[in-house]
Amino acid sequence: ATPALADRFGREATDLRFSLTDFCNLRCTYCMPASGLTFLNKEQMLSVEEVVRLVRIGVERLGIEQVRFTGGEPLTRPDLEEIIAGVAALPQRPDISLTTNAIGLDHRAARLRDAGLDRINVSLDSVVSETFERLSRRPLLHRVLAGVEGAREAGLDPIKVNAVLLPDVNDHELPDLLDWCLTRELQLRVIEQMPLDADHIWDRGTMISASDVHSMLADRYTLTPVAEDRNGAPAELFEVEDRISGLHRGRVGIIASVTRPFCADCRRTRLTAEGRVRTCLFSREETDLRGALRSGADDEHIAQIWRAAQWGKKAGHGMDRDDFIQPERPMSAIGG
Ligand code: GTP
Ligand code: 5AD
Ligand code: SF4
Repeated sequence: ATPALADRFGREATDLRFSLTDFCNLRCTYCMPASGLTFLNKEQMLSVEEVVRLVRIGVERLGIEQVRFTGGEPLTRPDLEEIIAGVAALPQRPDISLTTNAIGLDHRAARLRDAGLDRINVSLDSVVSETFERLSRRPLLHRVLAGVEGAREAGLDPIKVNAVLLPDVNDHELPDLLDWCLTRELQLRVIEQMPLDADHIWDRGTMISASDVHSMLADRYTLTPVAEDRNGAPAELFEVEDRISGLHRGRVGIIASVTRPFCADCRRTRLTAEGRVRTCLFSREETDLRGALRSGADDEHIAQIWRAAQWGKKAGHGMDRDDFIQPERPMSAIGG
């Protein structure tokens, strides 16, 4: 068997998060500065062939089983369908998923599904226009909602909804947002904000924590932990029962990266849009693969560079340490 993508803490990465672009058509305050960033140009970003080749090397030589395309916003790449079709055609086909803001998905969901996309997670922090605009700095809620509807019509299932709660912005909307998702059979996952914002305004003291989420939902819903094994997934899942009617409504997830870190079970490796291995959201370093790709290196050579990089993965994000320093690059540039 080929050596797995292991690190010195005994973890093996089977899950590749691949950023396809650092560009996004929203400017969410927890992720990007209002002014945007200096985005990569087309030459700097990996081509369809390069993306597919790296996924193939990951699958064939490193034990990757799942690939999730992220960004920035992956739908801003017009060649996303080609990338997915290329990955789906690999002899050892990985599970293929997408994390997206859903803008434009109404026109592309069916084609993406036909290309081989298995699942999507949609970032949606509010279904109230004013709140959405305040948070994302763009008046585009209607386009996101059209995208979600398009994905449902195309039969993409499951569809998960990711919401980051910000104090005094969208936190009070949580019970209604959950109701909105449950009504549409979408699985809401509430995410603790991590210190990956461009403006460095993250504050642990005011961050909405998993325990705050439980308190905010307690009036209306009863949450019971799901018994199934979590299997290294970031989300802790709960069955949701309506307190008044007693009816079972579905499930909700809570991603408590800050207060209940899951780093010890992490199965992730990341590639940035310019082709660098980043072993953790909170890495201090990245390892270039694009240079090797573009100078004719063979598959095994590229696999070796990737393996060596993964070996250097830190034990965890270290947010609780005194010497914790927020990464230079914000979430959009790292890849969510
Ligand atoms: P599935 O469980 O396969 O649906 O995907 P996912 O939850 O891993 O992926 P998604 O892109 O939807 O990410 C949801 C949230 O999980 C992100 O907003 C992050 O907050 C968090 N997350 C994803 N990957 C990591 C990670 O490696 N470390 C930490 N700390 N958080 C992560
Ligand atoms: N903290 C937590 N989650 C974040 N996301 C973006 N920035 C942050 C942050 N600072 C989420 C988005 C998206 C996912 C990939 O990451 O909501 O759904
Ligand atoms: Fe894995 Fe790093 Fe995320 Fe922790 S913070 S779960 S180690 S990628």
